[in-house]
Amino acid sequence: MAKQKINTVRGVKDILPEEALRWTEVERKARDVFARYGYGEIRVPAFERTELFSRGIGDTTDIVTKEMYTFPDKGGDSITLRPEATASICRAYVQNSLYAQAGVAKLFCIGPMFRYERPQAGRYRQFHQIDAEAMGTDDPALDAEVILMLMEFLESVGLTGLSLQLNNIGDAECRPAYSKALLKYLKKETAGMGEEIGERVEKNPLRFLDSKNPEHQEIIARAPTIDKFWNERCRDHLATLCGHLDRAGVRYEKNPALVRGLDYYCLTVFEVTSENLGAQNAVCGGGRYDTLVEELGGPPTPAIGFAVGMERLLQLTEGVDGGKNKRLTVEVFIVALGEGAEAESLTLATALRSRGIRTDRTFGGGSMKSQMKRADRSGARYVLVLGEDEIAKGVISLRDMTESKQEEISRGEVENYLASRLLQD
Ligand code: HAM
Repeated sequence: MAKQKINTVRGVKDILPEEALRWTEVERKARDVFARYGYGEIRVPAFERTELFSRGIGDTTDIVTKEMYTFPDKGGDSITLRPEATASICRAYVQNSLYAQAGVAKLFCIGPMFRYERPQAGRYRQFHQIDAEAMGTDDPALDAEVILMLMEFLESVGLTGLSLQLNNIGDAECRPAYSKALLKYLKKETAGMGEEIGERVEKNPLRFLDSKNPEHQEIIARAPTIDKFWNERCRDHLATLCGHLDRAGVRYEKNPALVRGLDYYCLTVFEVTSENLGAQNAVCGGGRYDTLVEELGGPPTPAIGFAVGMERLLQLTEGVDGGKNKRLTVEVFIVALGEGAEAESLTLATALRSRGIRTDRTFGGGSMKSQMKRADRSGARYVLVLGEDEIAKGVISLRDMTESKQEEISRGEVENYLASRLLQD
């Protein structure tokens, strides 16, 4: 009886070769753009002590209360698969004393993140982020530079029709008054919605503004917004940032209702959304987190960053680059008939590959007809046929599949011949 097959768990997916090429292309563009802004790559572990995230992201956030993959390891430590990269990068910054270097530390990280969310279009349990963080100053010019770099990257991969939403969510001085006013409003509006909502509102009123529940939207729309509570510093920070963005020609929309789902933010927050993404419309989220490094045991280090969701970005670029990627198709395919020819096929393939020519061959023999079928399916432009006859004569039959032409070439010539044809294309 056939064994039952084993599929992936819910909310995760395989990235097959054709798609993986689009991934590496996007990653390459990110590396190019980020390098121009002076960012270096950091690779942080996929799992950390649970405490890093509960302290860093916030005990009452959805991520920490509901979405983390947390488990005790065999030594009894509580481990969590990283749900985002910012907390890990801050930990690495502190642990490796990166603050000892002069100037702003600029780091980026690309990799998988894990959140136990309800899977739906654009929302996965393992997803990937391109994350950039700049640490060491609260100068709004850094906010502007980070946003500029983000928009340049998104443009470089061909994204258009994006909306950049910008807000300032206050600082430790002005946010408490806002939270208080919001709590008062929400308590009144959500009375009768049940104990759970009541408790959630009480614990963290700002979180309610992030609710996607359709029944909450009207209450959210009428809720007080932070702009009425900004102190001078917050108002100035946003105004200076907007001035920089205006001068750089970056289009943005001020959205005083924008809040983020992680607690470490202060001052600048932003999201990039696209109408073409449906309900999960944010392709990127980011903002300032001036106290997180200190919270994690480091020196006071104001910082700002963002993370782009790869899956959503790739969904938006579908069709932008179009067409089958050439690199997945070999250029030369070798058909070998007989034992001697098979042995020669390996030598020939190795020689062509070492010249940079993408080469494949048949395995396991078979008739001329069946091998030619495989050659045809490979998409190769040139097919080399090696039989006992050819070996004896010291030649190779070369078929040009696009022109349906066949010619005999001496074995000694074939590598140069193909290299001159293919490497100039
Ligand atoms: P975030 O808004 O939680 O922020 O995530 C950033 C982006 O990751 C989202 O805009 C979305 O594109 C993608 N994303 C999040 N969750 C999922 C999911 N379940 N499936 C697919 N894509 C998803 C952060 O993670 C912050 N660490 C960003 C940041 C960096 N702030 C400062 N520095």
